Amino acid sequence: MIGRLNHVAIAVPDLAAGADVYSGALGASVTAPQALPEHGVTVVFVELPNTKIELLEPLGADSPIAAFLERNPAGGIHHLCYEVDDIAAARDRLVAQGARVLGDGTPKIGAHGKPVLFLHPKDFLGTLVELEQV
Ligand code: CO
Repeated sequence: MIGRLNHVAIAVPDLAAGADVYSGALGASVTAPQALPEHGVTVVFVELPNTKIELLEPLGADSPIAAFLERNPAGGIHHLCYEVDDIAAARDRLVAQGARVLGDGTPKIGAHGKPVLFLHPKDFLGTLVELEQV
């Protein structure tokens, strides 16, 4: 069902400093910051030949990554994003198998302007999984 790895997301306390690590020391191409108020984060994408790295910084008081950064103050890997062809069909299949979808199960529009959902880490080997319809 899942297709390509769309991105690996890393939560960081300082987005500019995080972007500098990738554009400087690692010599990668990094996009301009994009605020996503509905998701409570500001993001940049590191563009690699075979996938992307998403750097996430908290946006607003109720950011869903605030607690993660309290536990991981220097930052850390936050989620993996896999591509799917039909996000509603993927959700229905996962729910039928007992997997938990975060929120109310309705896809939100993600950083690429496409529908996304998040799956509970306890159902996926301790890893928060994002599905993106491409
Ligand atoms: Co993501």
